[in-house]
Amino acid sequence: MSFAELKTYIHQQLSTLYESTEIQSFYFMLLEHYGHYSKATVLVQPENNLPEEVEQNITKSISALQSDLPIQYLLGETEFCTYRFFVDENVLIPRPETEELVDWVYNEYKTHHNSLKILDIGTGSGAIAITLKKLLPQAEVTAIDVSAGALAIAQRNAKANEAEVNFLQQDILTTSSLTQKYDVIISNPPYVRFTEKAEMHPNVLRYEPHLALFVPDENPLLFYRKITELAATSLVHNGNLFFEINQYLAKETETLVRQEGFTQVILKQDLSGNDRMLCCKK
Ligand SMILES: C[S@@+](CC[C@H](N)C(=O)[O-])C[C@H]1O[C@@H](n2cnc3c(N)ncnc32)[C@H](O)[C@@H]1O
Repeated sequence: MSFAELKTYIHQQLSTLYESTEIQSFYFMLLEHYGHYSKATVLVQPENNLPEEVEQNITKSISALQSDLPIQYLLGETEFCTYRFFVDENVLIPRPETEELVDWVYNEYKTHHNSLKILDIGTGSGAIAITLKKLLPQAEVTAIDVSAGALAIAQRNAKANEAEVNFLQQDILTTSSLTQKYDVIISNPPYVRFTEKAEMHPNVLRYEPHLALFVPDENPLLFYRKITELAATSLVHNGNLFFEINQYLAKETETLVRQEGFTQVILKQDLSGNDRMLCCKK
């Protein structure tokens, strides 16, 4: 099979399940992953024939994509802020809106040359913590997660990206106080209400860890309340608390942080125009 024939085949197999732009990106990702063909090679040599083994791997992958397996889990990796991260079903696949949150923190601190202590709560793949350590190498970064499976992946990612991060297995909901003071506390905690399940793509629901996603309908801000309370005593004066937030609960999240005494609350929208990030100051 040539690149051009594969392109037709993959579109035929997946067109009822995915948008055409998404299928196009699967096509390039699969060729890169299994055949090490760059996008440029694929574009300029459409008649190039695929070796048997590469063709077989790609055909198998297309069947997996038909059963909704996210391509990132299929390939075992994804890109976040230009860095490569291993992912499996123990961790949430890091999202583009989280890249925007990291970018916000980076812009706030890129000219800050003094020592800096950062805590990431609910680190998952380690995407936030590891990227911040890469972008702000002077920072001392700590990352917490309750899931041992997630921490194993995060540790692997820190090693692969040569980032020194201090990982702790801890349940933040039962933590009564943090042992250190931080300049920045950042979290993308679980925030999807069970009632919002209907809006979610089947591949998220079937494969991504529910521990990372869902909160009870009757108490959707439980992580925000707990983390804000901890931050109130564990951030240094003028320290910043950054959250990724549920777009439907932006006002409620803002009220919550104000009630805990935080000021200078800024809400930001993501690239899709949804209220997605919040920063406030102690
Ligand atoms: C929405 S995911 C965020 C993952 C990663 N920070 C990211 O942005 O891609 C939330 C994370 O919180 C973790 N988590 C859930 N409950 C927790 C708890 N009680 N204490 C600490 N971490 C928890 C989950 O294991 C998951 O990794």
